[in-house]
Amino acid sequence: PGSLEAAAARTGRRFGSAFAWGPPGHDGGTFANPSYAALLESECAILVPENEMKWQALRPTPDRFDFDRFDAMMAYAQAKGFAVRGHNLLWHQPKWMPRWEESYNFGTRPASEAARLLSQHIDTVCTRYGTRIESYDVVNEAVNPADGTLYETALSRAMGGATATLDHAFRAARASAPHAQLVYNDYMSWEPGNAAHRAGVLRLLEGFRARGVPVDALGVQSHIITQGPDTARIVGQLQPDWSRFLNAVTAMGYRLVITELDVRDNALPADPSPRDRAVADFTRAYLDVMLDYPQLGDILVWGMADRYSWIEGFEPRPDKAPRRPCPYDRAFTAKPMRTAIVDAL
Ligand code: XIL
Repeated sequence: PGSLEAAAARTGRRFGSAFAWGPPGHDGGTFANPSYAALLESECAILVPENEMKWQALRPTPDRFDFDRFDAMMAYAQAKGFAVRGHNLLWHQPKWMPRWEESYNFGTRPASEAARLLSQHIDTVCTRYGTRIESYDVVNEAVNPADGTLYETALSRAMGGATATLDHAFRAARASAPHAQLVYNDYMSWEPGNAAHRAGVLRLLEGFRARGVPVDALGVQSHIITQGPDTARIVGQLQPDWSRFLNAVTAMGYRLVITELDVRDNALPADPSPRDRAVADFTRAYLDVMLDYPQLGDILVWGMADRYSWIEGFEPRPDKAPRRPCPYDRAFTAKPMRTAIVDAL
């Protein structure tokens, strides 16, 4: 009853986390690590694979699929009764496409080859897992935060451009997974430097509606960043633009999902205790804004424990103090951030 999952359920929502594959007993954020699995099982109702469903993982070559790791994760999730989100069917950035994509020489192949590859990918994944996956990040991070334009990849150039490619992905997902919630997932945020990113996402979502593309929800990744200890003042500055953005998104009829919540503890001294306090306050303030929207459904963190968070590798603190982005610390003890989530709910 005291779990994050139960707290979310009281508001008609589900709480969940990313998880990974690993060999038995592996010291990682995996179901095969008993300490981590215990956290998942006590706190979560829904899980999402951190990397194992991406093209790089599932599709080592254009003509071969490798489902072993993700199948093992699905088997665990099913055995324990978790709901599962799919992440993702297309990570629309050159650097996140599989390595073979850039050298596939679409120009020397039939014009339909790029569309065939994309359709085949989405259909193969969606058909394999059927109703076991309830919600998909169909397209991930297609908007360039620098200017709000859509990225182009070798695949999208061969399909006549990004817009046609993203539309195609959603239509293919709807056809192959008619039961599933289809999500556009991105990291636009409430940071002050993020206006162009937000505007680009809004344009994309407007375009989907104008063209009748089947998109159900915006995935708000929520890799949020503290800017100092004075949470009330900082949030007071960030919140108005962010609420305007969320109002515009929901006014178009989109639902919202918090898909990857974690906190980067920037502009805070290294001492863990006040740092955890500020992270918790910031989390609470952020969730208070988000939870005002009845359109917000599932809330997932990008990892339950600091020990395995991707943030350490992605952006270490300049002073090298270990990052503390998650609800549980490196020894699997609950942090103030966990309490903040319960209190916000
Ligand atoms: C990250 C994983 O956590 C890392 O392990 C991997 O090296 C790179 O990808 N936005 C997303 C996620 O949509 O897929 C990313 O996950 C984090 C940012």
